[in-house]
Amino acid sequence: MERKEFLIKSTILAAGIGAGIVGCRKENEIPIPLNDQARIKIGIIGLGDRGSTIIGVLNHSPEFKIIACCDILDFRLERGVKNIKEKVTGYNDYRKMLENKDLEAVIISTPLHEHYSMAMDALDANLHIMCEKVMAYNIEQSQAIKKKAEQSSKMFQVSYQYQLNPTFNAIKDIIHNGYCGKITRIDAHWHRNSNWRREIPSPELEKQINWRMYKEYSGGLMAELGSHHLNMIDNILGQHPIKVVGTGGIDYWQDGREIYDNVYALFDYPNGVKASFSSLLSNRYEDQIIKFYGDKATIVSNKMNEAYIYPEEGADKEWDEKIDGMTSASIKIIDEDQKRNITPKNIGNENYPFEDNYRNTTWLLYKNFSAAIKGEEKLKLGLHDGYQSSISVHIANKAIREESVQKWKPEYDI
Ligand SMILES: NC(=O)c1ccc[n+]([C@@H]2O[C@H](COP(=O)([O-])OP(=O)(O)OC[C@H]3O[C@@H](n4cnc5c(N)ncnc54)[C@H](O)[C@@H]3O)[C@@H](O)[C@H]2O)c1
Repeated sequence: MERKEFLIKSTILAAGIGAGIVGCRKENEIPIPLNDQARIKIGIIGLGDRGSTIIGVLNHSPEFKIIACCDILDFRLERGVKNIKEKVTGYNDYRKMLENKDLEAVIISTPLHEHYSMAMDALDANLHIMCEKVMAYNIEQSQAIKKKAEQSSKMFQVSYQYQLNPTFNAIKDIIHNGYCGKITRIDAHWHRNSNWRREIPSPELEKQINWRMYKEYSGGLMAELGSHHLNMIDNILGQHPIKVVGTGGIDYWQDGREIYDNVYALFDYPNGVKASFSSLLSNRYEDQIIKFYGDKATIVSNKMNEAYIYPEEGADKEWDEKIDGMTSASIKIIDEDQKRNITPKNIGNENYPFEDNYRNTTWLLYKNFSAAIKGEEKLKLGLHDGYQSSISVHIANKAIREESVQKWKPEYDI
């Protein structure tokens, strides 16, 4: 059996459906690079978890050549330099790295509180920027970055790669083509059963390594996990939230952390759509689910790896004939309750290098980044998306932490 066919069939057997995107070339088959001049010379700041994933992805992206990398922790810098497949200059001061005149683009994959100064300095250095989510630590910093980046001719992308998943686009098309009818409610969860901590090599590195646990550095679960869901919801609705209430607490992990391990927020969107996001660290039954409730059907997706649609009674008469022609998806009945799975139409068209969606969608994000730099495509996750999701995260955190109703203020619309 062909490897690709095997992987798709494995997914079908494991999950009951085959909507996930899976790799079809061996991970150790690194593609042959383009000639050096055609490659975008890029540097990466922050060589931790996400930075390591990005290095692995860029090793499969001939459009980019990593020529510089930076981390303030020596052991991370050493690992980064080792994992980058080409000769690279390592730095422990990102400002020195930005002085490298050969650089055309920079990746910011550091803790949240560092994004602002790095993004502003990279804009001063006139570089294309791929900034990890969330765009910045607070509303004021996000506004300052957006305003400055809009004055630049360079690309500014924020790393919400879930939107690049074909399943996301299939769901979006199905909703936009009216198959769900009027949506009045969306529920999104990202639940885990873990302490969310990293091992520390020595106690003095606690805050540096476990920055997510501390308010000074982190926006907690809403920023780290909720931002992805809010970004997808905003994109599908074509709107940002107008009001949010919420609650949260350190309800389970009494280990000195400052950020809540249990958060729940309710968002009002225009046209009567209510959305919720919850995240907790003591139960993972719901996992990474989003549910869209319309008067004709409900869509349920987990991690955007799979998606199902459940019609309301009588709503589905013509679906199986029409749906392929009108959307980027096909819908097939898969059980007697009329549960149907959504399969993206373009599944299998792309030569994905990895066996998981996390890296494949990141790879697609970087492909789009390089195409946008070359003027061949529009940025899929530009300033608008990045900024909007950042504001949504920060007003939700304000609502949760201050136990108040927060509104999207007119001054946020810049
Ligand atoms: N898009 C996604 O799916 C995704 C997934 C995970 C993390 N992230 C984002 O990536 C960013 C990093 O997260 P992570 O999990 O990799 O964190 P991490 O702690 O594993 O890595 C961050 C690295 O940045 C380094 N660093 C800190 N300050 C620095 C400075 N001033 N100069 C240079 N290096 C510095 C740290 O030493 C560390 O090695 C966060 O914004 C996070 O939200 C995105």
